[in-house]
Amino acid sequence: MKMNPTICRIYWSFFGHLKPPYRKVLKFSKSFSGSSTKSWIFQSFTLLLLVASFICFVVVMGSSYYFLLPSSETVFKHEVNKNANISEHSDFISEGCNLFDGGWVIDESYPLYNASQCPFAERGFDCLSNGRKDKGYLKWRWKPKNCEIPRFNVRLVLEMLRGKRVVFVGDSLSRTQWESMICMLMNGVEDKKSVYEVKGNKITKQIRYLAVRFSSYNFTVEFYRSIFLVQPGPAPRRSPKRVKTALKLDQLDGISKEWIDSDILVFNTGHWWNPTKLFEMGWYFQVGGKMKLGMPIDKAFRTALATWKSWIENRINPNRTRVFFRTFESTHWSSGTHQNCKVTRLPLSNVTEKQSSSISDAIVNSVKNLSVPVKLLHVTPMGVFRSDAHVGSWSDNPSVPDCSHWCLPGVPDMWNELLFSFLRSQ
Ligand SMILES: *[C@@H]1O[C@H](CO)[C@@H](O)[C@H](O)[C@H]1NC(C)=O
Ligand SMILES: *[C@@H]1O[C@H](CO)[C@@H](O)[C@H](O)[C@H]1NC(C)=O
Ligand SMILES: *[C@@H]1O[C@H](CO)[C@@H](O)[C@H](O)[C@H]1NC(C)=O
Ligand SMILES: *[C@@H]1O[C@H](CO)[C@@H](O)[C@H](O)[C@H]1NC(C)=O
Ligand SMILES: *[C@@H]1O[C@H](CO)[C@@H](O)[C@H](O)[C@H]1NC(C)=O
Ligand SMILES: *[C@@H]1O[C@H](CO)[C@@H](O)[C@H](O)[C@H]1NC(C)=O
Repeated sequence: MKMNPTICRIYWSFFGHLKPPYRKVLKFSKSFSGSSTKSWIFQSFTLLLLVASFICFVVVMGSSYYFLLPSSETVFKHEVNKNANISEHSDFISEGCNLFDGGWVIDESYPLYNASQCPFAERGFDCLSNGRKDKGYLKWRWKPKNCEIPRFNVRLVLEMLRGKRVVFVGDSLSRTQWESMICMLMNGVEDKKSVYEVKGNKITKQIRYLAVRFSSYNFTVEFYRSIFLVQPGPAPRRSPKRVKTALKLDQLDGISKEWIDSDILVFNTGHWWNPTKLFEMGWYFQVGGKMKLGMPIDKAFRTALATWKSWIENRINPNRTRVFFRTFESTHWSSGTHQNCKVTRLPLSNVTEKQSSSISDAIVNSVKNLSVPVKLLHVTPMGVFRSDAHVGSWSDNPSVPDCSHWCLPGVPDMWNELLFSFLRSQ
């Protein structure tokens, strides 16, 4: 199956006189087409020739389209939807394939839903409705290096979730994934009125609990806001004045009992573990009833994760509940402060610096060797590329640009596709 690259090479030699960045794109496409052709099954050689030429043509035209746009970014990986024929039923996640090692490829079949038609996509994340004009950011799909994520099949997933309880726990990034999942699934439900928030609540930033019921499928998708996972409380008497809140690192959030009887349980925490959101707001750590004013944040974070770990091992029944932990969701603030946020038109090509995060490293270590299996949703490396996919100024508050949250539809949809693919592979 080496025909595809060979034919592509003809196009490359044709365009070989173009400027260096142009060649770089073509090289990316080439290395990509070499590895993913294996899964193609063709009945005739002629068909193969035709399809391969067509793909190369579209790759090249697509690349030139992007490079003619005025843009200072380089393209990461350009690829036309070659895997459009990904089977919806076979399991493409082979043993030993690292789903989180890969690249973003263009796929015209995306996005998976229209946020302005989904009552559970909050306005602040619906970038198109808030005035974003470029739409290229909607067209990227995550492609692991050595395998395929099965194509999202809404009917299959709706059936898979029948009678189940899905629970998201964490900060606003969990709320985004919760909204994304509901919108993805609602597309497959004919009677939209059969999907509703159980108490008729509206989505707000501070709300502690939201539950959306898919009544024709008898399941709920719930969100519990718990930004640190551990329990905050009032400052003990005789604490220094600056202490307003004691974050009890050895005690899981009081609402955690609500998380126990779930079938799918997805955690995150991370964005609030920084001095601005803790110390500057008067939040300090407490362990064993004693304030630990000098405790560094990374140590406190590991202590909280140890508390989470022992709660999982003691309270969760692995025969019922599938547990996931999402790692740090990349941000793209320039100059390291929350001041500058420039959303790009295209994903980044050079991401050498921000591939790792100490928050993610701590999470990766803490999910190892648990008596209850915990699947890692290691979204850090894939998010690093997506400087094009943040809310930016297309939020409900354009005066405060946002390079932490993501537009919907967008990157959080891919987190859900990964989650569904894990569920399907069991
Ligand atoms: C796509 O899949 C279908 C069904 O599996 C198969 O019949 C068809 O030949 C495939 N097409 C291509 C282009 O691979
Ligand atoms: C989404 O739906 C709205 C309202 O129905 C419509 O105006 C808009 O064109 C749609 N957007 C896309 C990208 O299809
Ligand atoms: C809905 O799901 C629950 C939990 O799995 C189950 O106990 C109940 O019987 C289901 N109800 C219907 C009507 O299927
Ligand atoms: C889980 O299932 C296994 C095998 O069916 C059983 O031995 C074990 O006791 C169950 N564990 C719990 C916590 O129910
Ligand atoms: C990628 O970024 C690093 C650090 O910013 C830089 O040293 C390197 O030259 C860049 N590589 C490319 C190919 O642009
Ligand atoms: C994993 O956990 C078991 C018991 O829970 C322990 O005996 C073993 O040493 C642990 N392994 C590692 C590598 O931590």
